[in-house]
Amino acid sequence: MSLSREQMLVEMGLGPIWRVRDQVPPSEFCPAPALEPEMPLVPASLTKQDVRTEQPSSEGQLPSVALAAPNWPDLAKQVAECRACSLCQQRKQAVLGVGDRQADWLFVGEGPGAEEDVQGEPFVGQAGKLLDNMLAALDLKRDNKVYIANAVKCRPPGNRTPEAAEMAACRPYLERQIALIKPKIIVLLGKAAVHSVLHEDKTLASMRGHCFDYQGIPVVVTYHPAYLLRNLPDKAKAWEDLLLARRILRQKVTVATNPDLPF
Ligand code: URA
Ligand code: SF4
Repeated sequence: MSLSREQMLVEMGLGPIWRVRDQVPPSEFCPAPALEPEMPLVPASLTKQDVRTEQPSSEGQLPSVALAAPNWPDLAKQVAECRACSLCQQRKQAVLGVGDRQADWLFVGEGPGAEEDVQGEPFVGQAGKLLDNMLAALDLKRDNKVYIANAVKCRPPGNRTPEAAEMAACRPYLERQIALIKPKIIVLLGKAAVHSVLHEDKTLASMRGHCFDYQGIPVVVTYHPAYLLRNLPDKAKAWEDLLLARRILRQKVTVATNPDLPF
């Protein structure tokens, strides 16, 4: 059964969307770099690259990911066989990601849960249903212009939050995925994804509504769908975040396809 756009928004628990959109002029939150290159998108403290001080939790017993493979087939094989952190010990399988490998949108979650561990695909449980509804509300699907990945590729036992060292061990794979996909916008779902991609541990509430930078790619931060399932009123905030991401993407595309625009 396919739902109408309005039904999907109702399903997501979202109020009237157009009001939200009008209240958030794009330039106020996220000036596109191509439009105003002299303007910093984010405070300097948030743009500096990670100095990679974290160590794998296995304390050197397991091999680290020296360099993630440069192409998809090798990357998939490397991840499937990876034993670079202790999460390899209880996984049924590693979950690389799903979707369009030439996606405009990259969504990054935390790590596989029980169902993802069994099925080998990210976000197939309850949180995944909500994520699919959020995508549908944007006229997107997980296999069309969208790629979905996680900060760690193996299920943390009991669905606990991955440790910083586990995320550090797995980060080269995510970095390689980003390099291969070259998305136009990255949406980080929850704190683990923010930690992994932006190396930042501030609260999500303080980071929402801003545009960050990952190697020239705009990044927007929002709540994890599993959190939203427990905190329904925050769905409207997540919707605002997605609209912000869409505006940034559209701005980027407009500039790229109209290089003669007078700004
Ligand atoms: N939560 C995540 O962060 N990722 C998944 O793949 C599933 C649930
Ligand atoms: Fe390797 Fe990542 Fe799985 Fe750890 S979580 S074993 S680094 S693929």
